[in-house]
Amino acid sequence: MLQIVEKLMREHIESLGDLKTSELFQKVPKGKRLRAKLILKIAGLENPQTQNLASIIELIHAASLLHDDVIDDATLRRGKPSLNAEFDNKTAIMMGDILYSKGFSELTSFSKDISFCISNAVALLSVGELLDVELSKAFNPSFEKYFDMIYKKTASLIEASASSAAMLAGKQSEKYALYGKNLGLAFQIIDDILDVTQTEEVLGKPSLNDFKEGKATLPYLYMYEKLNPQDKSYLMTLYKKELSAQESVWIKAKMAETGAIERCMKDARELGNEALLAIKYEEDVGLVKIITEMIERNF
Ligand code: FPP
Ligand code: MG
Repeated sequence: MLQIVEKLMREHIESLGDLKTSELFQKVPKGKRLRAKLILKIAGLENPQTQNLASIIELIHAASLLHDDVIDDATLRRGKPSLNAEFDNKTAIMMGDILYSKGFSELTSFSKDISFCISNAVALLSVGELLDVELSKAFNPSFEKYFDMIYKKTASLIEASASSAAMLAGKQSEKYALYGKNLGLAFQIIDDILDVTQTEEVLGKPSLNDFKEGKATLPYLYMYEKLNPQDKSYLMTLYKKELSAQESVWIKAKMAETGAIERCMKDARELGNEALLAIKYEEDVGLVKIITEMIERNF
């Protein structure tokens, strides 16, 4: 069912008539297409408008990751060199600009409500990325700031995907927005857990990379809360540092000792339940499965 979305994305980019752009687009990683799946499930996969909306959101999401890899100085994405690493920052930034502006021009064929919903979420997404950059300058121990940042950086576009799909299908958009918001928050928490628990081989990017990038994600916040003063100071010496094997082992051991990962999993499951509660009286079109698969995933 995602093939049609891939085809539409390709067609949107090819319609620009630039060979170099089309070639570079083939190098952009495809990803899980979570947002497209969500839209197709909520608004019906046979509807051409639904398929087009899914392709637009995935173009915008892909653009945001191209920019994010430049911002994070990332060299790997889904096990392959990121565009900024394979080419350069200029190429990755311009490809990102092409993808999201083409997405926006296609968005003009939708109603004002839908185009506002998506474009407003992209503004939030950018504010969220800026917050992420700010919070990565010095160790941030605030849960409130973390949750505000992940809502904007990740959940806002998932919330808008679910909500705009519901608008297309004539369903109650507020319920689906709440589903999408909680799904998005849980999604980012799981991502932050996997950074700690998985290997580079599974992740397709280095493991324990967030802390090196200065990101004190939820597992670190829970761990920090429980550490004794001496361990807290030691953790601070590892912040933003290339970790040795021994230091990585120490972090993983402390994560286990403090129960930090379990607490994060509990939060993710609770958010998953909140999401399901929001659409409790709606027909199940596969949204329960999206939550369970997303929470129990390994990468
Ligand atoms: C990944 O975070 C980043 C995002 C989900 C959002 C990035 C948003 C922007 C760069 C704003 C610009 C938007 C557009 C449309 C150009 P992460 O670094 O925690 O995840 P990662 O480990 O997958 O890199
Ligand atoms: Mg990143």
